Amino acid sequence: MMMPRNVLMFADPGVDDAIALIYALLHPDINVVGIVSGYGNVEVEVTTRNIYAILNMLDMDVPVFGGANQPASDVYVEFYPEVHGVGGLGQFEPEGIGFQLTNFTDLYEVFDRYEGVAIVDVGRNTGLMLAYMLGKQKMEKATDCFLMGGAFLTPGNVTPAAEANFYGDPVASKFVFENIRSHVFPLDATEKALVTQEMIGYLAEWSPIERLRGPLQEMFTFYAEKYQEFVPGIQGAYIHDLLPLMYLTNPELFTMIEREIFIETSTGPARGASIADFRPNYGIAAAEAEEEHLRHKIAMDMDYEGFYYLFMNVFMNSVRTPYVHR
Ligand code: RIB
Ligand code: CA
Repeated sequence: MMMPRNVLMFADPGVDDAIALIYALLHPDINVVGIVSGYGNVEVEVTTRNIYAILNMLDMDVPVFGGANQPASDVYVEFYPEVHGVGGLGQFEPEGIGFQLTNFTDLYEVFDRYEGVAIVDVGRNTGLMLAYMLGKQKMEKATDCFLMGGAFLTPGNVTPAAEANFYGDPVASKFVFENIRSHVFPLDATEKALVTQEMIGYLAEWSPIERLRGPLQEMFTFYAEKYQEFVPGIQGAYIHDLLPLMYLTNPELFTMIEREIFIETSTGPARGASIADFRPNYGIAAAEAEEEHLRHKIAMDMDYEGFYYLFMNVFMNSVRTPYVHR
């Protein structure tokens, strides 16, 4: 039997973050030990409220730490209410959510309380950078770091060159890749993570957690309608933020490649671009390079059939019947 993976999540819900967080909370082999909210898709006050709304819905109690409210790269912040809704959860508007924030630096306590904590960051990397800057020794107790972000051999989504998480705070993302060995899930793989109206429609009717049925449909429908504008003809929407979580229990679904990663921090059209060396002579070039850089594992592809069954199994609460990848 698999020991559950302890996970400290950084997230900015956001529809896909919300669905990913619900997935993590429902998965019997993932133990979410803390959640750090952050600005990103919407303001940090709203993402924090949304995290509490999700915990409430699932009747779960996980410590929530208030994270960054703006990037290190700029003094202004760009939000995306047109993609995620003004309240960040599409048409789902949680009501009467009261909460008390736990201080950011209290997040270090999870490393004293739990053995083998992995970091999963599915938002802008500001909070993660700050956590390392302020408490490196504690953060180095993390076993692994899994990030959603970047676009390597595919166009960006927020600009032609950049994906939204790395575009949002390139200085923070650069810091992360210079200091923390990571597994990265860029658009190259996450644009395979298609969740369809049929999948959500099924869960909206049959989810064993009745309180989840309406909100899932309300969140997803709004997001999927917006997706039609970005990817005409798409039959649903990409739930990018699921992938690092899926890797935790099912790495066999992914094709990974190991590379150094560079993030463009200049302003202008290349801001937030993620660069790795995909030239055919990479091995030779890397061996001859004068400077040593950290190498990271990058997901370049994902098995869609496996993704589909894993997603449906976890949401239907049947993953306990061991998931078999055919
Ligand atoms: O580019 C996809 C990422 O940007 C996801 O994390 C999503 O939540 C958005 O912020
Ligand atoms: Ca996100």
